[in-house]
Amino acid sequence: MKYPDIEFESFFTWSNRPRIIYSPGARAEIAYELRELGGRRVAMFTDKGLVEAGVAEMVAAELRSSDVELVGIFDNIVQDARIGNINEGAQFYRSRGADSMVAVGGGSVMDTAKAINILIGDGGEDFQPLAEQAALWEGATPLPPHVAVPTTAGTGSEVTTAIVVLDAKARVKLQITHPYNADVAMLDPELTVKLPAKITAFTGMDALTHAIEGVASTGASPIGDALGLHAIRLIFKYLPMAVREPHDIEARGNMLIASTLAGMCFGNAMTGGVHATAHALGAHYGIPHGLANAIMLPHVMRFNAEERPLRYMMVADAAGVNVNDMDPLEAAQAAVEAVKDLKSEIGLTETLRDFKVPNDVEKLGETVGLAASDSQVSYNPRYLEEEDILNLYLSAF
Ligand SMILES: [Fe+2]
Repeated sequence: MKYPDIEFESFFTWSNRPRIIYSPGARAEIAYELRELGGRRVAMFTDKGLVEAGVAEMVAAELRSSDVELVGIFDNIVQDARIGNINEGAQFYRSRGADSMVAVGGGSVMDTAKAINILIGDGGEDFQPLAEQAALWEGATPLPPHVAVPTTAGTGSEVTTAIVVLDAKARVKLQITHPYNADVAMLDPELTVKLPAKITAFTGMDALTHAIEGVASTGASPIGDALGLHAIRLIFKYLPMAVREPHDIEARGNMLIASTLAGMCFGNAMTGGVHATAHALGAHYGIPHGLANAIMLPHVMRFNAEERPLRYMMVADAAGVNVNDMDPLEAAQAAVEAVKDLKSEIGLTETLRDFKVPNDVEKLGETVGLAASDSQVSYNPRYLEEEDILNLYLSAF
């Protein structure tokens, strides 16, 4: 495809943290990186599933045989970062006299760990008042050393400044940002081979959603386009392979790189209507984030296509569609079909019906309202009214 006449804002900024290290076996470098950052006593943050699967131990073993001290493993992290869990983690860090952290896990672990480090840097014991401020940029200072080790190829949380926190009582997902995210993102595909096919599939769709929404977003820029479009190429090629052949290091490695690229893309360009509607579904019906995105993605793309057809044409091209003889709107529709085909290839057939979401205009009202107030709505390329959000939900049954 010849590069189309893409317009972008005449002003944009781009933040570039953290340092990224990629290699099968990269976990052997964690201790060195921590020492370089001044860490001597490291606390590990992970979850019970990763301990049971032996993945946490793959990292812990490297740390034990190194010249930093592993002072404890906090494996109590639950699905979706939560205030109480963040406070507990910070207490653990302090009680073990840690001076640095390594986070080993998927998005929930990495987001919780980022929040714990902010609380440690702040010196307080309760994350609640910080969560309420949402943007923690004013006067922010560097935080203690932090290495993020993703075990899913999905959220990109290892490179973003955002933390999504579930307020279980209020049933809302809050978004908090702090300029000092992890210092190092350690990409080791060997840590992702035990991930079950289903989770591989929907976390991969989260990464794809970051890339597509980042490219189509009102916050898009040429830098984000470069990252997002290459992430899309890699995901369309390697996600089906990673689902079919879990031990294929080439597929796992490329997926990990793709999710990091997509994370860098949306970390700056932000997302849009898919994430807004998915956050509300997660808060009200507990639908895992990647799966909620996978359900909503084709519907929101179809809704947006006419607003930015050239951008969706680039998405179609990156997805492997031959768009040469198509007009931009046709190509944008082809991008939607390509996403639907990818979903069926990786076995994601779920609709909102599978999660007992009521197919009822009245009962959906509260979820529509929550999605409409989500911070990501304003980055959607087409203006989203509450009625549009309702129709998007109704089309996803
Ligand atoms: Fe996401």
